[in-house]
Order: sequence, then C-alpha cells, then structure tokens
Amino acid sequence: MSEPQIRRIAILAGDGIGPEVTYWGKEALKMIAQGFNHQFVFEEALIGHAAIEATGDPLPEETLTTCKGVHAILLGAVGHPKYDNDPHAIVRPEQGLLKIRKQLGLFANLRPIKIFDALLGASSLKESILKGTDILFYRELTGGIYFGTRAKSEDGLSAYDTMSYSFMEVERIARKAFEAAKGRRKIVHSIDKANVLDSSRLWRATVNKIAAEYPEVALHHMFVDNMAMQLIRDPKQFDVVITGNMFGDILTDEASQISGSLGLLPSASLGKLVGLYEPVHGSAPDIAGKNMANPMATMLSAAMLLRHSFEMEEEAKLLEDSIAQILEEGYRTKDLANDQTAHGMICGTDQIGKHILEKLESKLFQSVVI
Ligand code: IPM
Ligand code: MN
Repeated sequence: MSEPQIRRIAILAGDGIGPEVTYWGKEALKMIAQGFNHQFVFEEALIGHAAIEATGDPLPEETLTTCKGVHAILLGAVGHPKYDNDPHAIVRPEQGLLKIRKQLGLFANLRPIKIFDALLGASSLKESILKGTDILFYRELTGGIYFGTRAKSEDGLSAYDTMSYSFMEVERIARKAFEAAKGRRKIVHSIDKANVLDSSRLWRATVNKIAAEYPEVALHHMFVDNMAMQLIRDPKQFDVVITGNMFGDILTDEASQISGSLGLLPSASLGKLVGLYEPVHGSAPDIAGKNMANPMATMLSAAMLLRHSFEMEEEAKLLEDSIAQILEEGYRTKDLANDQTAHGMICGTDQIGKHILEKLESKLFQSVVI
C-alpha cells in the first residue's frame, strides 16, 4: 500500500477562548485522519496578544513562515480587552489577523449561514421566518476601509480612515461568488451603499460587468442599510451575498443570530495559496478558561478546511453531521441555553467536544464493528 500523502496544518490558537476551541478542531481533524488513513501533521504558531507577549509582534515572522509552508491553517481568535480601551496602543492583537489575511492574499471570506433543524427554537427569530434559510456570504477580506489610508491629526482632535476599492479587487471576489451561485440557487445579492459612496458605485458597476458573464444567475443590488433589515425580515430570500470588508463584518455578526449563536459560525478565507479557517466569533475574554466556549464554530471551520483545502467532501460531511446529531440529541453549550429544545443538557466546552468526537468515532468505525 502506498504511503498516504502528508498534509501539514498550522494551528494558530491565538487569544481568549482560541486555545480551547482550536483544541477540539484539532482533535476532530486527528480523528478524521485516523478514520480515513490520512496523514495530518500539525504545527503550532503564535498570533495576536499571545504573540505580542512572547515576541512583541502580533504576527511574528516565524508564524508567517510556518503559514507559508503548510497546506492549510486553522485559527482560533485574536483580541484582548487590555487594548480595547487604549487609544494609544501601538501594537494590537487584531493587527496580526489583518496582516496574515493580507500577506497570504486571502481576499475571499466565505461565511455560510445554515440552520440546524434542532436549533430552530434557539434563534431570536420565529421558526416560520427561519426555516429553510441557507446563505453563503462572500466577504471581501483584504481591501476596503480595513486597509485604506488612515491618519490622526497632530492635535489628536480628528482622524480619518478611507474606503477604497479597485476594479481588480471587486472583480475577483464577484467572480468567486457567481461561480458558487451556479452550484446553488443561482441568486446573488451584492451589498453596497451606492447612493452615497463612490467606492460603492465602482463596486456596483464592476459586479454588473461580471454578472454579464453569468446570465443564469439572478443579480440583485441592495443597500447595506436595507440588507441589515431584510436579513431578519426575510432571510430565505438570500442565496449568495457579496459584500465589502466592513459591511460583511457587520452583517455576518447579525446573520449569526439567525443560526442561533455566533458560536456556530465557521469561515474559510481563500486566495491563491493556502486557505485559512476560523470561527466568526472573537476571543470572548469574559468566558475564556471557564470551559464555557462553544467549540462548534471551530470544528465546523475544520470541516470547511477538509472540504476546501483538501477536497475531502465525505470527511467534511461526516464531521458536520456529527455536530448536527449532537444538537438533535439535545446537547447544548451555554450560548444556546435559551433554546427550549435543550432539555437541560447544557455542556461545557470539553463535554460537548467529547460528545461530538464520540459521535464522529462511531460513524468512522461503525463498519468494522461486527
Ligand atoms: C472578524 C473579526 C475581525 C474583523 C477583527 C478581529 C479584526 O471581527 O473576523 O470578523 O473585523 O475582520
Ligand atoms: Mn467580525
């Protein structure tokens, strides 16, 4: 039998709940490797506040080198409250995340919003509005106001950030979104603020141009303020959504409430080289180290890693199904505790992680049980 191909995965645990949730993402990948006879090798590296503490830099050169040498990256979260209220901080954990996205050219941030049937009661929206919602966000990730020119006046009394987009930046994300829509319900909503912003008018004109190459896909333009409203009024109308960097950041946090919790949302950041996978949630310092975090978003990100970087659809599906079944059996983490269907089975991070792995294990090895 030929030796399985070695696939290297960088684990960037980061800050707050990052280490707790990436632990379970990694355990899931290890079990998949065992079940399918794949060979995954893990390389840990520093990012965020953890990296600042150790080296003074939120993205040390060593981390970047590691990330350029692997086949995929699984990231936890970055951020620390120490910096949030300090306008004078020179280095910030978030800079590490922004820099790695930019340096690796990860311009397309995929954020799927799916509803687990078992969680229809966990959302703040009515079941009738939610049922059947399936949205795939394509958030532009390496441009816009996040990366524009910014400055503060010398007297410290004014500051500015600029939002700029080029044809090339919009074109490449739009193309990815239209390609994805072809394999789905063939609807694209492009979100902008073209009634006010020049960068949005360029965004809209560019998307129109690309749309002409995809006559089978229906394109709708929507202003971002309207989208914020439509998303909770009638989420089912959306299939694929393309947004700029900041609009996408805000709208996907809003959309997380459709699925019941931010603790459930995975993401994939793709470009030309290596893919990076991370939960949409942040470092949640208030619950860090308390065995309360929901590891599902990270485990679902690990499933996206299998799917998008390794083309392991069956493996990805098995992991996703294991999570769905645990939810169906009534197990919940604290963030999902207001759900009437929980039957009081509220678990800590470790417990729910173990339940998911046991479920995965039973699926992987059931055929050998006589
Ligand atoms: C996200 C986060 C980041 C962002 C922060 C941590 C810089 O909120 O991935 O959505 O704004 O992109
Ligand atoms: Mn965000």
